[in-house]
Amino acid sequence: YLPTLYDFHFDGTQQKWVTWSSLVPKYIYNPEMKFADILVPTIDTTRASWILEQMVKIKRPVLLVGESGTSKTATIHNFMKNLNADRIITLIINLSSRTTSMDLQRNLEANVEKRTKEIYGPTMGKRLLVLIDDMNMPKVDSYGTQQPIALLRLLLDRGGMYDRGKDLNHKTLKDLGFIASMGKAGGGRNEVDPRFVSLFSVFNIPFPAVESLQLIYASIIKGHTREFEDAIQKVCDKVTLCTLELYSNIIKDLPPTPSKFHYIFNLRDLSRVYNGLTLTKPDRFLTVNQFVRVWRNECLRIFHDRLIDENDKALVQGHIKNLIEEHFKSDMESIMRDPIIFGDYRTALSENEPRVYEDIQDYDASKALFQ
Ligand SMILES: Nc1ncnc2c1ncn2[C@@H]1O[C@H](COP(=O)(O)OP(=O)(O)OP(=O)(O)O)[C@@H](O)[C@H]1O
Ligand SMILES: [Mg+2]
Repeated sequence: YLPTLYDFHFDGTQQKWVTWSSLVPKYIYNPEMKFADILVPTIDTTRASWILEQMVKIKRPVLLVGESGTSKTATIHNFMKNLNADRIITLIINLSSRTTSMDLQRNLEANVEKRTKEIYGPTMGKRLLVLIDDMNMPKVDSYGTQQPIALLRLLLDRGGMYDRGKDLNHKTLKDLGFIASMGKAGGGRNEVDPRFVSLFSVFNIPFPAVESLQLIYASIIKGHTREFEDAIQKVCDKVTLCTLELYSNIIKDLPPTPSKFHYIFNLRDLSRVYNGLTLTKPDRFLTVNQFVRVWRNECLRIFHDRLIDENDKALVQGHIKNLIEEHFKSDMESIMRDPIIFGDYRTALSENEPRVYEDIQDYDASKALFQ
């Protein structure tokens, strides 16, 4: 692999080029944090955050474009969370195919106050930084326009919009900043008016490299298993390797087709698998085989259960079996034992007891619980 310009950052104070990889902050595990809020810093998130910081500093609207699951939303949310709240207020707006320009205008108006007769803005002395997520989702009307985009174009280009009341007064909106994000056009995402896009600095967000994926998911699971038996901590890298290999096999073997258009697998699914793994508690998962068994369960639930064809299902089961055979041969028998049922409903009826995610063992046990 030959490094390119994109692997380097020019450090203005040191007056020299440094690699982005040397700037990636270390991931610090925080047990209090909700799974959905976890962001493991990688080269991509570090670089994108730096770009966001520069653009916000010079008050330039910025648009991140990239495929689904390239951490656009995760990176921007994280960036916004770390802004100085005394100076910048944030507003997150998700556009969907059904968002109208009126929805958008009401949302914006609810977050600014009247300063003078026709000037509106956030509280004096602050800036309102608006994230417009999934910006190209709004439906295209019969005139070829996307209504919310037409409104935003007026706002970004002319600094205001018209009151919807009788008089159609012009309202100037001051001290607003914009960050936007969208996937490439196709599958419900539309081409956006290029004259609107030209108001932004546009950056492409590439799909994270395998090393980044390994870093993200191994960090999450290592953080989670810190209180687990040593043997389990030691297999975190291996489990992650297996997950990524399974994922790449699935992407390769099971591409979306017209009759299987929902065969779309991305980072979101990897995160779901790990979300499942982080439901485990050290007292119920004592051995490697118990831990790999829950891993097998999560992979089946996330990948296998979405498949609609027996051959496809057999293929994924085969991949999982091969991985277990290759990496956890000595525990193979108990890991592969069927049926495989995990749940947190054993204590569901007693309100005082916490829910614990565990191996339910078999259908009889499960049936008894439900009865
Ligand atoms: N660096 C990371 N650390 C931890 N989790 C991550 C990281 N990057 C992405 N993820 C997870 O991957 C999933 C997809 O990320 P995200 O929602 O940010 O993608 P996106 O680029 O906004 O996709 P879309 O275009 O579909 O909106 C999320 O579940 C997110 O938590
Ligand atoms: Mg997103």
